[in-house]
Amino acid sequence: MNLIKSILGSLLLMLFGGQFLIAQQNQTEIKPAQQWLDTNGKGINAHGGGVLFYEGVYYWYGEHKLDGKSEAQFADGGIHCYSSKDLTNWKNEGLVLSVDYKDEKSDLAYGCILERPKVVYNSKNKQFVAYFKLYLKGVGYDSNYVGVAVADKPNGPFTYHHKFRGGGTNKGSGDFSMFKDDNGSLYHLAVRKPDKAFVIGKMDTDYYFPEGDYQVCKGVKVHSEAPAIIKRKGVYHMLGSGSKGWNPNPARYHTTTNLLGTWTYHGNPCNGYNNIDKLGVEKTFGGQASYIIPVHGKEDAYIAMFDIWKPKKPITGRYIWLPIEFSDDKMSISWRDSWKLSTLND
Ligand code: GAL
Repeated sequence: MNLIKSILGSLLLMLFGGQFLIAQQNQTEIKPAQQWLDTNGKGINAHGGGVLFYEGVYYWYGEHKLDGKSEAQFADGGIHCYSSKDLTNWKNEGLVLSVDYKDEKSDLAYGCILERPKVVYNSKNKQFVAYFKLYLKGVGYDSNYVGVAVADKPNGPFTYHHKFRGGGTNKGSGDFSMFKDDNGSLYHLAVRKPDKAFVIGKMDTDYYFPEGDYQVCKGVKVHSEAPAIIKRKGVYHMLGSGSKGWNPNPARYHTTTNLLGTWTYHGNPCNGYNNIDKLGVEKTFGGQASYIIPVHGKEDAYIAMFDIWKPKKPITGRYIWLPIEFSDDKMSISWRDSWKLSTLND
């Protein structure tokens, strides 16, 4: 009886759209590389994502991958959002921007590639601005735009606004990070096409377009992808990867004290071994960086987000979230089979 009670106490069966979903009990641990369920018991579908903290709530935005599609069959369905107060239990906020299934001419026409969404809050316009890699239908990885969508609430819906070519060339840019500095200035840091130099451009005060020229980030290794940036004690730390498509490769770590100045390369900041996939640091545990989350209410606490891509079945892609540690002001990221937010930096 007790067993039944405890099972009933922790699991709530719900009839939802003809399907039985099991409401998850409160999760206490983050388990890198393992399937991560939302509070409805469904696998989280938010790949290549980023997290925004707004009024006490974290919002995780990522690529919504369509069930039954491989990357080659166009798996991108739009931006999926989840919300959480503890970074561990995530509530489904749904698809906040969808690709367009009706209008073939739309920039977001189904068949486009829509990747690595990141959302920034613009306090001047009281607007949430979403950015994503946008490769138009039929053009594929040659079109290299940054798509921009806006919303007046963090959980959307977002409305497609415009696109721009980042990087200062007519070939645009690839993987990117939007970094908002302490004074509110927003920067687009990205891999420039076609030469794969890593570049930086400042955005206008609406956060809609780059306002001037881009410049090369001196010292950043060429072909650096998947950039994720934080500022800590006056130093900018950038985690990223090499360029191997969906295949994992060694993580890269650069720092600078001046965003527009020269960066220093520090190699791969990862240590340890992913026991689930049997992959070590030479493959970044099987992951590729997507974002670094500053943890609010905890001193000096940051979480590195990585994706394990599954190009044949992208919806089954998994997530590796690991705490970042600092020693001598240099970051390191050690594998953990599981960990608790409550023990971070204790
Ligand atoms: C990766 C990139 C992903 C995706 C992939 C396609 O390097 O980080 O976002 O574009 O290439 O091969």
